[in-house]
Amino acid sequence: MNFKFGTRILLVLLLSFNGCESISFLQNSFQSKPTNAFVIPQIEGASDKRDRYEFTGKEIIIASDHPLASQAGMEVWKQGGNVVDVFAAASFAISVLRPHSTGLFGGGFAVVYLPSKGKWAYDFRERSPKKGVSSFYLNEDGTVIPEKTLKGAYSAGVPGTVQGILQIQKQHGKLPLSSVIAPAIRYARNGFSVYGDLAFAVSKTWSQMNPTMQIVFGIDNRPIREGELLLQEDLAKTLERIVENAEKEFVDGKTVQLVSDYYSEFQEFITAEDFKNYQVKVSEPLASNVWGHTLLTMPPPSSGVHLVTMMHLYSEMQNRNSFPKGDVGEMIRITEAMRVAYRDRAELGGDPLFTNIPVSKLLSQTYAKEETNEIERKVVSGSWPSPSDETKKPESYNTTHISILDKEGNAVSTTQSVNGIFGAVQMVKGTGLILNNTMDDFAVAPGVPNLYGLVGSKANSIEPGKTPLSSMSPSILLEPSGKTKIVIGAPGGSQIPTSIFNTLYRYLIQKRDLYESVSYPRIHHQFRPDRIFLDPEIKDSYPQSELPFYQVQYIRHRAKVFAITREGDRLIGVSDPKGEGVPLGF
Ligand code: DON
Repeated sequence: MNFKFGTRILLVLLLSFNGCESISFLQNSFQSKPTNAFVIPQIEGASDKRDRYEFTGKEIIIASDHPLASQAGMEVWKQGGNVVDVFAAASFAISVLRPHSTGLFGGGFAVVYLPSKGKWAYDFRERSPKKGVSSFYLNEDGTVIPEKTLKGAYSAGVPGTVQGILQIQKQHGKLPLSSVIAPAIRYARNGFSVYGDLAFAVSKTWSQMNPTMQIVFGIDNRPIREGELLLQEDLAKTLERIVENAEKEFVDGKTVQLVSDYYSEFQEFITAEDFKNYQVKVSEPLASNVWGHTLLTMPPPSSGVHLVTMMHLYSEMQNRNSFPKGDVGEMIRITEAMRVAYRDRAELGGDPLFTNIPVSKLLSQTYAKEETNEIERKVVSGSWPSPSDETKKPESYNTTHISILDKEGNAVSTTQSVNGIFGAVQMVKGTGLILNNTMDDFAVAPGVPNLYGLVGSKANSIEPGKTPLSSMSPSILLEPSGKTKIVIGAPGGSQIPTSIFNTLYRYLIQKRDLYESVSYPRIHHQFRPDRIFLDPEIKDSYPQSELPFYQVQYIRHRAKVFAITREGDRLIGVSDPKGEGVPLGF
């Protein structure tokens, strides 16, 4: 038996039997000091990062950004749940465990592939409330009111996470709702040990938190610290009301009442009517042939379509002899593919119900050929426009991704978010819910960069009921036979599509193994600012001196990839070694 496979099973079983809520894994950040802490064995022999972040199984794997979220998934799997129950349990759990990344007042996307039933793309992202219009965020002279989309009560969209998880679980899950929510309730009520990343997020945002939020995330009026126990009793009660009332809790339940009470002090920006009107959108995933596989990904307003364009353009450039060989040629192909894809995103991206997005064109080989002709002209003539010298805005770590794959090929790929760190950094009294700040994913005015330095056009302007454009691109790749090959996705704002591209490039084109492909230093270009961002470790392969036509910045790529692949009868899962998660399974 595979060593890691065996030891990780042991860990899962131990965790499940003693009902613990804290894991002292391989990082100090998980060591817990609280009085009711349980002693958890280390994974024997897990001495390097690969042992912690990679896992091989045969039956099922989940890769998430917190060990207890992965464990919640495995707990319901052992109760006879399927991949969708695993998705629901891990999603509710991660909302409790990474409240700075996602939560019940957030939103997300999920691509679900059940080979014997079908495939679906679920959009449960936030929507602009009825009162959300661009002018609300602009001064009379048309200038942008600083930070109104970013901070406070007006930066939140109507949440969709709860309705999304419930609808997907109701349609495809096997277990009762109470079973899939149980781990999350436990983690919220019994608490868990605060880990480094969460402690950092709390201290960074402490001064912006409203008093209700400071009570939950503070001890003795100071930010909770790493190793201390985080208790979220109001959130546990909200989860219990969801068990009792299911989707009705977020239609006209007590939670909606409490949110309405909160907004009575903020011009009733979000109302009970907004909650009543909320609809999860279900469609077919986009399907496109790329790199010998069928990529199933989220349609707009996700950026899945731009990921496909990027991959097509790369292939087209690879077929042309006029591009330089070696590292410089590789850099040009990758950068130019990304530049076109992010240009399209900036110019065309938005809610397809409000703006016309030429999806078929963007997915077509003809388009890839035409755009490659343009790039080729630049390469052959050597007439590169000078890179512009815009500065990049600071960015944050948040959002989360969960990948799940079982031996039958059943798969879920889901990315969920409250947008910035702790979203709007405001908690609704009596609920434990933290408002998202996803209104900032709209383009408040054409060309004005958002938190991630991304620009947009009128296509992504703020209108009532509209869904903001997103970089989240949960994806599943199938082999030509239809067998599921890879489940993949990432948090990381604007760097989400390029992190998926980089990983698939290293894995499918360069034939590295999955762990290496996830960990490999990354290349990123997002059209604006006009600059290549390279992980510092590849500085020697791609020095600025050999790329005079680009402006290069050596800086850590933020996105964290969570991926699972099937190789023969083995399933291999990887949680990005930049993060706090682990893959688990059997
Ligand atoms: O949907 C989006 O594009 C953003 N709200 C995602 C934010 C994100 O991934 C932040 N992670 N670092």
